[in-house]
Amino acid sequence: MVALERAAFSVHQIGSVAFRRLLARNSALVLVCERGQEVLGHAVVLFRARSTVARLYSIAVQPSERGRGTGRALLTAVVEQARERGLSTLSLEVRALDAPVLSFYERFGFCFKARLPGYYDDGAEAVRLVLALTQGQRPLRRAS
Ligand SMILES: CC(C)(COP(=O)(O)OP(=O)(O)OC[C@H]1O[C@@H](n2cnc3c(N)ncnc32)[C@H](O)[C@@H]1OP(=O)(O)O)[C@@H](O)C(=O)NCCC(=O)NCCS
Repeated sequence: MVALERAAFSVHQIGSVAFRRLLARNSALVLVCERGQEVLGHAVVLFRARSTVARLYSIAVQPSERGRGTGRALLTAVVEQARERGLSTLSLEVRALDAPVLSFYERFGFCFKARLPGYYDDGAEAVRLVLALTQGQRPLRRAS
């Protein structure tokens, strides 16, 4: 999983110490897609006490495995787990200029929530996207 983080992200990578902490926390969920001993993808979700918002902290698929449905399967499992906990919203940050990843989330139903200038260590802007998890909740409108 650490190797996958390195392959997938240039900054904000989760290292081995952080993964161990996350795995020990009740307020974090780590989902892994495996083939034999190989990690094909993982997703990390954070929960907060007294909050109905789950945060998708990381999702990554091995470069050689992308485009085969692994990311969608992981995200579907994340949504199921968050719904089982009775949460209302799944939130995440993504690089504002990462069109392919934005498209991945938009196809899944995420909506634009906010711009976050200078969010990343390299100064790049992020956008916050949200997915409504509860039935009957109206989708958010895209802000200008
Ligand atoms: C984002 C990521 C997890 C997607 O995983 P994946 O296994 O390639 O995605 P899937 O094959 O499940 O694709 C799901 C949908 O997104 C679309 N999609 C995936 N990658 C895409 C791309 N590069 N460009 C456009 N659409 C894309 C697929 O067409 C598919 O749509 P469909 O189900 O309607 O056909 C993967 O590309 C990745 O690990 N990227 C690097 C890490 C990263 O940036 N993570 C997100 C941080 S915010």
